[in-house]
Amino acid sequence: MIDSHCHLNHNSFYANPQKYIEEAMAKGVEAFLVIGYDLESSRRAYALAQRFENVYAAVGIHPTDIKKRGPADLGQIEAMLSDKKVIGYGEIGLDYYWDKSEEDQKEQKEYFIEQIKIANEHQKPIIVHTREAAYDTFKILSDNPPQYGGIMHCYSGSAEMVGDYVDLGLYISLGGPVTFLNAKTPKEVAKITPLNRLLVETDSPYLSPHPLRGKTNSPANLPLILEEIARLRGVEAKIIDEATTANFRRLFRLEKQ
Ligand code: NI
Repeated sequence: MIDSHCHLNHNSFYANPQKYIEEAMAKGVEAFLVIGYDLESSRRAYALAQRFENVYAAVGIHPTDIKKRGPADLGQIEAMLSDKKVIGYGEIGLDYYWDKSEEDQKEQKEYFIEQIKIANEHQKPIIVHTREAAYDTFKILSDNPPQYGGIMHCYSGSAEMVGDYVDLGLYISLGGPVTFLNAKTPKEVAKITPLNRLLVETDSPYLSPHPLRGKTNSPANLPLILEEIARLRGVEAKIIDEATTANFRRLFRLEKQ
């Protein structure tokens, strides 16, 4: 299985990433996509991808990190995209939970569009973060289609919208919330998402799955998420493991190793 979204670049892990990589590999996690959210974390993702064979990087600026960006940040992000271990662009998107003012939201939208454009120019799939911004996120993605596809990361939208995102070439990635006892919508999404568009992620150190909810998450917890999806769909975990691994490799055009 492959963790399609983790933050080994975060301070929780960065002092000793090897420990967390080995712990996860012992649980069957074969590869990791480390996601940047600002310039520094993107550089760290890049560095980890150079250091570990089964670590890949995505670089980009998260909507809530836009405000602290420097004028040269996007150029420096863009410079990393030519590396073959930098396989995705993100995480980018919209987050209206933290930014409520119209002015901030306008800036987020402009920046989202600009970063989709860069991803398209460099032929990279995008990693989309969206929170309390479902309408605008879908509108921007429809008007500015990601030409190389992408991922709706830790998908928290409705089951009804899954087909619309799939039609835009996006994959649906599920994380810890699908295991939460009171999570109705993610469980429904886990059942109806086409098997060839499903991915799994930990989003560690955030969003620990049940029964570890509230603790620091790590990539070693990926099987808890995968097993819950299998249970909900009434299939063996192996089926979800093989499908999500193949989906990841197809989306990022990686050779089978
Ligand atoms: Ni994330």
